[in-house]
Parts: sequence; C-alpha cells; structure tokens
Amino acid sequence: MLLEMKRITKQFPGVLALDGVDFSIDAGEVVALVGENGAGKSTLMNILAGVFPATAGEIIWDGRPVRIDSPLSARRLGIAIIHQELQLCENLDVAANLFLGREPRLGGPLGVLRRGRQYADARQWLDRVGLPLPADTPLSRLTVAQKQLVEIARALSVSARLVVMDEPTSALTETEARRLFELIAQLRAHGIAVIYISHRLEEVLTHTDRVVCLRDGRRVGAGRTADLSRDDIIKMMVGREVGQLFPKRPVPVREVVLDVRHLFAPGVSDVSFVLRRGEIVGFAGLVGAGRSEVVNALFGAVPKTAGEVYVRGRLADIRHPGDAVRTGLAYVTEDRKLLGLVLTQSVRDNTTLAFLRDICGGILLARGRETRVTKQAIERLRIKVADMHTPALHLSGGNQQKVVLAKWLAGTPTVVILDEPTRGIDVASKAEIHSLICDLAEEGAGVILISSEMEEVLAMSDRILVMAEGRITGELLRREATQERVMELASPRTARN
Ligand SMILES: Nc1ncnc2c1ncn2[C@@H]1O[C@H](COP(=O)(O)OP(=O)(O)OP(=O)(O)O)[C@@H](O)[C@H]1O
Ligand SMILES: [Mg+2]
Repeated sequence: MLLEMKRITKQFPGVLALDGVDFSIDAGEVVALVGENGAGKSTLMNILAGVFPATAGEIIWDGRPVRIDSPLSARRLGIAIIHQELQLCENLDVAANLFLGREPRLGGPLGVLRRGRQYADARQWLDRVGLPLPADTPLSRLTVAQKQLVEIARALSVSARLVVMDEPTSALTETEARRLFELIAQLRAHGIAVIYISHRLEEVLTHTDRVVCLRDGRRVGAGRTADLSRDDIIKMMVGREVGQLFPKRPVPVREVVLDVRHLFAPGVSDVSFVLRRGEIVGFAGLVGAGRSEVVNALFGAVPKTAGEVYVRGRLADIRHPGDAVRTGLAYVTEDRKLLGLVLTQSVRDNTTLAFLRDICGGILLARGRETRVTKQAIERLRIKVADMHTPALHLSGGNQQKVVLAKWLAGTPTVVILDEPTRGIDVASKAEIHSLICDLAEEGAGVILISSEMEEVLAMSDRILVMAEGRITGELLRREATQERVMELASPRTARN
C-alpha cells in the first residue's frame, strides 16, 4: 500500500468530524471518496494534506509511519491536493498562481530568464488541462471553471505520487470534465494514486476503481466500483431511500416579469430575452459562453455597456447589486466566496437578510423572525451545523452552498437567478433544492437557472436559451430540447462549420 490512514479521528469544537476512519490506497489506483455534505471527506483529506492535524490516528506512507504536520511536509512526501474551495491568488497572473511557493528564484542575473521559463512551463500545463489562455492573464479575469482548471494544472505540475481531487469537476461542464478524466487515466498509467471526491455519481461509476463511503464521520461502506450500482452508492451514502431527482412540477406561466433588450457587457453581446412569472428558463452553454456574464450584468455586479432591463414592465436602472435587490432580483452566485457568503459571520446572519441589509441599507428584520427563518432553512435544506451561531467558515463546502441558497430564498423575490445552485450538493439535498426551485416558480417568481449539468437544465427548465461566444444562439422549448440539440447550438461557430 502506498498510503494507509488508520483510525483517524478529528474533533472540532462541538463537532466530531471523523470517528476512527480507515482509508488506504495503492499506487496506480483511483479511489472515490463519497458521502453526504458534511460527512467528513474534506476533513480527512485536509489531514492528509497537512492543513490541520488529526486528533488521533496514524498515517503510514510507503510502509512507514509518518507525521504530516504542514502542507509542506505533505508536498515533500509527494502528496498534491486540489482543494474544494479554490485557493488561488486573485491579484497574480495565471503562471504565478501555478508556481506559487515554488517559483524559480527571482533577482540575480538569471532572474529574467527564469521568469521566461516559468511562462513557457505554465503554457505546457495550461495546454494539458485545455485552458487556451495566455499565461500572463490576471487570475481575476478568469471564470470559476477556468480557475478550477488552473488549480488542477497546479496539482499536476508538481511531481506527485498521490493526487487528491476534492470535487474538481463541480464547476466544469461535461465536455471539460472529459479532459480531466483523460488526465486521470494518464496519472494512473504512470502509477500515481488518485483520490477522487465527487457528488457526481456517474463520474464515480465510470472513472474509479474503488469506492469508500463516509457518513457522519464514520466509514460505512466500501467496494470495487465494478460491483456497485448508482443506487448502491446512494444507499451507502444516505442510509435510506432518496426522493426523485429533478421533480419538475408544471406551473402555469403568467405575465412577463423580466424583459432584457440588447444587453451588452464584457463577454456579452446583444442578448435579449424575456422571463415570465412561474417560468424556469435554463441557460446552457460551454464554460466561457457568457452565461454568468449575462446574469452578472443583469444584477449590477459588473457594469453593462448598453441595453435595457425591464422588471415588471418598468425600466430598471440597476448599477450595483443593491439596486438589483431593491428591484426584486435575487442571485445565487456560482462563486460563493466572492459574492455569496460572509464566511466569518454566523449561519443565522448569512441566512437572513442581515447581509443584504449591508448592501441595501435600511431593511431591518426582527431577531425573532431571523431565528425562525434560519431554523426553517436548516431543517428544509438539511444544513449540517452544530448551531445557527456557527460561523459559515466552519461548514462543509456543500453546507455553505445551502446557506447561500437559504439566504436568497428567505425573501420573496420577483426574479431568482440561480448560477450552479446544486454545485457540490449531495444527491439527497439536490432533490430537495430542485423541489424548492419549483416552489419558487409556484409562488410566482421567474427563475433563471444556469447549470453545468445538462441533465439538470433539461429536466428543470420550461425553456432553454443556449449561449456561445457571448450571444444567444438558440432557444428550445422543454419538449424539443435534447442533449444533442443543445450541444449543437453551444459549440462555437468556428467549430460548427
Ligand atoms: N474548521 C472547522 N471547525 C468546526 N467544524 C468544522 C470545521 N471544518 C469542518 N467542520 C465540520 O466537520 C464536518 C465535516 O466537514 P467536511 O468539510 O469534512 O465535509 P465534506 O464531507 O467534505 O462535505 P461536502 O460534501 O459538503 O464538501 C462538518 O460537520 C463541518 O461542519
Ligand atoms: Mg468537502
């Protein structure tokens, strides 16, 4: 065995995150680590990566007991990790992020030369992960998916013996994920071990050799992937039957609530569409097609350069998110760290409008109501948290995502924009979120849904707008939309001819 983790226990204040977990992996093996949100997957990997120590347990590497007491000591052993929450520096360029902490020394007569080499090396790794961007692009210009690819390139570029991927595909579309799986196959062929964490069970079934399942901090099952079905894995994870995924209910579609005319913004050219009360409109397209850019411009998160937006028939002058919220728009962003959550604030303050109060000013909620709203959200979305005063920072990735959703759904918005609402969410909670989206439509909101999971867009939308290169390239009604037709409209024009 390359790695054996034995009886690993992790006690956080008030939370027993891991309780005597065993985990092992051999060279050239791809092992999936699965479990519901908050099961302890990232915690186990953070211990392996030296982010924090275990409370008890031992780690055997290559047959010898080791102490991993810092990220550096993990890296020295040959352990590379792609963290669930992106850990890149926004103010540096792509190449600098790739080689952060191990860049060729600058200064001295060779400084400039080495810097040139860094860009050349960076170019190679970017090509391998399929990111056609200049290596000196500032990171802040990248979309979440592109950042995720940089993070993957960084992990691959250190010569590791074990690569941990904590939800590497959560922001990627299927096309982009496919390249990652080719890379994983190459790693495996070179005898490198891969630990793969994902809530996308299809990926787990197709691309891994073995599955290990955690529930509430305990190892509850394991097996060879070939012997397991999707349902087997779900049952292991959840310990019970799960409601139907994508439970779209028909909702009568009423008057237009949002009318966007000739919208132009960075990455967006001439986008026009309408959205009606009760309607769910899906936006499909490849990463970088401009879907997030459209909704960012709508919400006032980036300035639009031209175009008009009408909300309930009235011309809306939305210049920043505060204007959008006042106009009745709600926005669950794909990047929960930047716009979605105040990580240091408690779950309660994040869930209720305390945060919105900061950006709009003036809206005050009684504490009692805040507490009630939060309790409901915790129950409904099954947010795993010791109590509602816990800072959001201490929640697992999926549970943070649920808090973001809860926050925006606490009001009664006219238009709800959901950008990757189920990113990183486990199967059971996913069904719950889909049903919640239908509730919103039923209550009279118009919903814009962006998702990299084609299945989700096809199943949940009344209508699908497909984007490529910043434009809307086609519109499909629910009954005429298929994966093939969407893909055809989504491919860039150059590739289509
Ligand atoms: N720094 C921390 N302080 C307190 N509790 C924490 C901390 N980090 C994690 N936890 C708790 O430990 C538990 C396990 O979290 P972990 O992040 O390992 O879950 P996960 O399996 O990765 O879930 P997800 O699928 O949502 O990413 C959760 O209950 C979480 O709230
Ligand atoms: Mg996690």
